[in-house]
Amino acid sequence: MLQVGVIGCGYWGPNLIRNFQLLNRSNVMRVADLDMRRLKHMKALYPTIDTCTNYMDIINDPDIDIVAVATPVKTHHRFALEALTAGKHVFVEKPLAASVAECEDLIEIARQNQRKLMVGHTFLFTAAVRKMKEIIDSGELGEIYYINSQRLNLGLFQQDINVIWDLAPHDISIILHLLGQEPLSVSAIGSSHINPSIEDVAVLTLKFSESLLAFIQTSWLDPDKIRRMTVVGSKKMMVYDDVQPTEKIRIYDKSVEKPEHYDTFAEFQYSYKYGDIIIPKITGDEPLRTELRHFVDCIENDEQPLCDGNSGLRVVKILEASQQSLAEGSSHISLR
Ligand SMILES: NC(=O)c1ccc[n+]([C@@H]2O[C@H](COP(=O)([O-])OP(=O)(O)OC[C@H]3O[C@@H](n4cnc5c(N)ncnc54)[C@H](O)[C@@H]3O)[C@@H](O)[C@H]2O)c1
Repeated sequence: MLQVGVIGCGYWGPNLIRNFQLLNRSNVMRVADLDMRRLKHMKALYPTIDTCTNYMDIINDPDIDIVAVATPVKTHHRFALEALTAGKHVFVEKPLAASVAECEDLIEIARQNQRKLMVGHTFLFTAAVRKMKEIIDSGELGEIYYINSQRLNLGLFQQDINVIWDLAPHDISIILHLLGQEPLSVSAIGSSHINPSIEDVAVLTLKFSESLLAFIQTSWLDPDKIRRMTVVGSKKMMVYDDVQPTEKIRIYDKSVEKPEHYDTFAEFQYSYKYGDIIIPKITGDEPLRTELRHFVDCIENDEQPLCDGNSGLRVVKILEASQQSLAEGSSHISLR
C-alpha cells in the first residue's frame, strides 16, 4: 500500500483524496491546507486521515511515499521540489509549474532522486480523448488540417493566474497528445474585464506547420459551459463535446474534394461530400481514477508516466510563450 500526502484540499484536492482512497493500492495518510475549515471538512469526510496546516508535516513524514499537490500554481514548484528532494514520488496538478525554468528544475531533481514526477493532465485519461487519439492515428480522418478547441464558462475567476493558465493546459495537453508533435510558434490575444490585470478572455493560435494549425478559445465570461473540440481532416471531421453526458464524439463523413476541372459553381458544389455521422461507443472509469491508477502503476513497475515532467514542460512552454505574446501585442513567439 502506497501512503499518500495531499497538499491543498480546496476545490480540486478532495477529488484526488477520494480517488487515491478508492484505489486499493494507495491510502491517504495526511492532508495539508492553510484553511482550517477545509481541513475540518476533510476530517468529517475521512475520519482516519490526519490533517495539518504545515505542509512540511507531509514532506518530513518518512512513511509517506507519494505527495500530491493541488494548490495554486505559484506554489507547485516549491512543494514539488521539497517533496522530490525528500525522496517522495510527486503528482502535481496542472500546470506543472509557473515557468519553463521551474519545470526543468523539477524534471532534473526527479531524475537525480530517481523519483516519479507526474502532472495532472486529466483529459488524457478520458475515454473520449483516448478514442480520438485512436481514430486520428488510424488515419481515418486523413491529413489533419486544423483543430479548434473552445473551453468557455462563467467563472471560476482565479486571483493569481489568467484564463490561459487556468483553462488552456487542458486543451494544449489534449492537442499535443492527439497530434504527437509540438508547435513551431504560438500567438495569443486576450482582454481583461473583471480584474484589470488578469485576462479573462483569450484565444491562442498554435502553428504546427504551414498547413496545420490549432486554435484555443478560453473564457471565464461566457453564459454557456462549452467544452468542444473540432478536428478537421482531409477525409473526415470529428467533434468532441465533453459537455454531452454520453455521445461525446461524432465523426462526420464530410470533406471537400477539389475537382480537377469545373466550369460552373454548381459543379464545384458537387465536390462536397456529405456522408454519415458516426457516434462511437465510449465507456470508461472516472478519468481521475484512471490517471491516479496509472501513476501508482508507474511507481510500482518503474515506468515513465504518460504525463511526466517533460509532458508538463511542453505545456508550460506554450503557456509561457502565450503570456509573452500577450505582453508583446499578440506577436508570434517561436518555440524552436
Ligand atoms: N485536473 C483538473 O481538471 C483540475 C481542475 C481544477 C483545478 N485543477 C488544479 O488544481 C490546483 C488547485 O486548484 P483549486 O481550484 O483546487 O484551487 P483552490 O484555491 O480551490 O484550492 C487550493 C487550496 O490550496 C490551499 N493552499 C494554498 N497555499 C497552501 C499552503 N502553503 N499550504 C497548504 N495549503 C495551501 C488553499 O488554502 C486552498 O484550499 C491548480 O493547480 C488547478 O489548476 C485541476
